[in-house]
Amino acid sequence: MKRVLLTGAGGGIGRRMRQTLVGCYPILRVSDMVDLGPPGDGEEVAIADLTNPEDLARIVDGVDGIIHLGGLSVENEWDDILRTNIDGAYRLFEAAYKAGVKRIVFASSNHAIGFYPRGQILDGSERPRPDCRYGLSKVFGEALSQYFADNYGLGILSIRIGFCFEKAETQRTLGSWVSIGDLTQLCRIGLDTPELHHEIVFGMSDNSRTWWDNKTARRLGYQPKDSSDIWAAEVDASGIPEPGDAVGLAVQGGPFASEGYQGDPRRVGADSAKPIS
Ligand SMILES: NC(=O)c1ccc[n+]([C@@H]2O[C@H](COP(=O)([O-])OP(=O)(O)OC[C@H]3O[C@@H](n4cnc5c(N)ncnc54)[C@H](O)[C@@H]3O)[C@@H](O)[C@H]2O)c1
Repeated sequence: MKRVLLTGAGGGIGRRMRQTLVGCYPILRVSDMVDLGPPGDGEEVAIADLTNPEDLARIVDGVDGIIHLGGLSVENEWDDILRTNIDGAYRLFEAAYKAGVKRIVFASSNHAIGFYPRGQILDGSERPRPDCRYGLSKVFGEALSQYFADNYGLGILSIRIGFCFEKAETQRTLGSWVSIGDLTQLCRIGLDTPELHHEIVFGMSDNSRTWWDNKTARRLGYQPKDSSDIWAAEVDASGIPEPGDAVGLAVQGGPFASEGYQGDPRRVGADSAKPIS
């Protein structure tokens, strides 16, 4: 990999990954629609709107691999999800393929499987179960990745990112937390593993309390260095209630499964989150 494109470089993960990727590839092209400041050593800055096909053709030009973080990262109105996360993702992949890009790391989300009940162990081979429109767009992104691997021969890693923030503060995020270092390691596996078709892995650190078996990531060589275990006692003692309604508290997606539906009388109850295999 000579030149790697990082979309969403101005976001919470992107800003930190811009640091952890320093020196990993000869050129890192950082892209976002927001101001990214001046390029650092070995960087190119490419301001672009993911919903603009001309911008997409420009940012993928000359690139070997892409880490695609850009887009809407929480629940939004359908039209916005459709434009940015679904149409935008398709057009980015299409532009990448046409430009000869060989590898893509797709930032999927635990919200692609957020309607599985807490406690059911998942390993990435289960059918999708999105918990919101945002999660639905991540299911689309995983299917898009499969299609571009099957039909166009790209190597793609979909990472169902758990909770990539400074610290885990709830029981749910103890299970899903991932450090920026471990997430960077997974992205590098997606770009650098010699043989890769399309795989789905969980973006999680080495957490003891989790509902996910990250065996595919381990098979690809992932060795997480961090763990949320250091906060487990603090979280147990804190007694801070988790956000979300009864459905959110019953399922893996938590508050995302609650958002937008509260008070809708047509909504099913928490017992709808039955295990399926
Ligand atoms: N942070 C997490 O714990 C977490 C968990 C699961 C999945 N993810 C996924 O990881 C990725 C990064 O997450 P994040 O927390 O950094 O999100 P973020 O919202 O902080 O960053 C997303 C970035 O995408 C950019 N963006 C949005 N629309 C755009 C457009 N039309 N054109 C160009 N850029 C656009 C934004 O400007 C922003 O800088 C997202 O795809 C998100 O869905 C994150």
